Amino acid sequence: MDPFSYRDGTLFAEEMPVAQLAERFGTPLYLYSRAALEDRYNAFDEAFGDHPHRVCYAVKANSNLAVLNVLARCGAGFDIVSGGELERVLRAGGDPDKIVFSGVGKTAEEMAAALKAGIHCFNVESAAELELLNLVAGELDTTAPISIRVNPDVDAQTHPYISTGLKENKFGVDIQKAPALYQRAAELPHIAVRGIDCHIGSQLTRLDPFEDALERVLKLLGELQDLGIEIHHLDLGGGLGVTYRDETPPPASDYVAALLKHIPGELPVHIEPGRSIAANAGLFLTQVLFLKPTEHRNFAVVDGAMNDLIRPSLYAAWQDIVPVTPHEADCRDWDIVGPVCETGDFLGKDRALALEPGDLLAVRSAGAYGFAMASNYNSRNRPAEVMVDGDQAFLVRARETLEDQLRLETLLP
Ligand code: LLP
Repeated sequence: MDPFSYRDGTLFAEEMPVAQLAERFGTPLYLYSRAALEDRYNAFDEAFGDHPHRVCYAVKANSNLAVLNVLARCGAGFDIVSGGELERVLRAGGDPDKIVFSGVGKTAEEMAAALKAGIHCFNVESAAELELLNLVAGELDTTAPISIRVNPDVDAQTHPYISTGLKENKFGVDIQKAPALYQRAAELPHIAVRGIDCHIGSQLTRLDPFEDALERVLKLLGELQDLGIEIHHLDLGGGLGVTYRDETPPPASDYVAALLKHIPGELPVHIEPGRSIAANAGLFLTQVLFLKPTEHRNFAVVDGAMNDLIRPSLYAAWQDIVPVTPHEADCRDWDIVGPVCETGDFLGKDRALALEPGDLLAVRSAGAYGFAMASNYNSRNRPAEVMVDGDQAFLVRARETLEDQLRLETLLP
């Protein structure tokens, strides 16, 4: 389902006219659809049928408390990568027993907080992390449940910055060396081996890299069984892509089916989808400030910028930009640029649009890695976030103020 569609010549988010939301909450603004988040979570959950599973939403994609709460109410688990994300999930009503903790640089404090919360599993990414976790769990007189994140050395065929399963990436443990680390884990008094974890990258549009990685993980599973190490679940990470333009990623049902067909018996499977749940459940709304046609290019200067939505600048990512209320006028090719003082500050280039100052534009597919990656660069306040639910809209994060930005800073005495 697409929660954003035109009716009577104007864009709607579920049952709310987007222009009305811009009027009420101002721009730039992130808008999310509750129904779309639920729909996308349920698609994964239902695809597993009776097979034991956990769909652990990757919090990094969009960590707004209301987004997490909507997913927690659906029964979602969560994949976290920091103490901050842990706290968000707990405050949003997430079940600690459905939390997995990924990331290459967990601190002792973060480990202790997660142990106290009683999370389901730590996805351990190095030998050094394993030793520290054993110590921290010992100090708390408890046992840490772990998977080892293995690096299967498969090419996810995605943007190099978001490919994580190659040998040269910083993530995980070389799959060849994993059996030795599992043996070490099995000896440690405050570690309980639970699973095998693997995540190979993001925005994958084909199934074969996932299946290649799984094949290698299953080989490791056999080796561990031979060593007498029991595995209670496989965590296959996130990474399923979405349609930004003309990509044709498989639907959640095909993705899950492709994984399950290799899984022996009833072995529980965890997945960690982020983008595929949130990206197309959100858009970024911005208003045209000035039109600046030049001999070389036509610039539409808008009130949203790279600090609000960095994907186009950082990855040369293409996201669709559509008028909220299209006009009958000639289209021109516009570069949609923000007020930030960088040439790389654009939301899109060469977009055929009929524009007038004051027009509202919606940048599509902005629900994932949008607000979550926003910054205060150029001392800009981060945008407000609104969740639409049918014919209601809720402000789920107030627009930042300059006071918010300046609160932590002081002058020298
Ligand atoms: N699990 C782990 C261990 C991850 O590192 C990630 C994403 C996920 C799950 C979720 O992956 P997803 O289902 O969202 O593809 N900022 C980039 C994406 C970075 C992804 C980082 N890791 C972007 O805007 O494209």
